[in-house]
Amino acid sequence: MNKIFERRSCRSFIDKEVDISLVKEMIYAAMQAPSAMKQIPWHFVILDKKEIPTLMNCSHGAGSLRECNKVVVFIMQNDLRCPEFLEQDMSSAIENFMLEGRDLGLGTIWIGTYPHTERVDFLKDYLKIDSPYIPYAMVGVGYPKDSNLFKLDEKRFDDTRIHIGKW
Ligand SMILES: Cc1cc2nc3c(=O)[nH]c(=O)nc-3n(C[C@H](O)[C@H](O)[C@H](O)COP(=O)(O)O)c2cc1C
Repeated sequence: MNKIFERRSCRSFIDKEVDISLVKEMIYAAMQAPSAMKQIPWHFVILDKKEIPTLMNCSHGAGSLRECNKVVVFIMQNDLRCPEFLEQDMSSAIENFMLEGRDLGLGTIWIGTYPHTERVDFLKDYLKIDSPYIPYAMVGVGYPKDSNLFKLDEKRFDDTRIHIGKW
């Protein structure tokens, strides 16, 4: 899948509306992620550009949302049967979402939220949600300003990390 080699964090976007149908398509891709015992802990809140100035107060890293057109908050439901695998389920859904975005010509930026209590509480207050629902991460979406960002970075191929047959 060539698009995997073109996925990069994007922090610079043009001022162009991202149709909500595209964001939903990315969410449908997220919903195809593997999940321990098929517990499916994910829920999604799609937020519009006008909410970004507030969302940027969530953390220092959330400043990267500045030029995004949409933000999706990934919500983790934590009353399911495999609590020890919730984070892995959520992260695989986020990766699917970002890869589908790349395939659609969009850029994305993952903003870490969980397990930082103050960031989780910020988003719980803002979205008015409570237990068993936990804001896990935000992902900003937009049309990238510079498509050169998506060039293959060959330096990332590292054969020293690959162990065949033994450690
Ligand atoms: C769990 C997690 C949290 C992250 N949080 C932020 C963030 O708050 N702000 C940001 O600009 N980038 C954030 N990133 C993006 C990373 O900085 C980025 O993935 C890393 O620098 C590698 O670059 P690449 O995504 O282009 O390969 C986060 C990534 C992950 C996986």
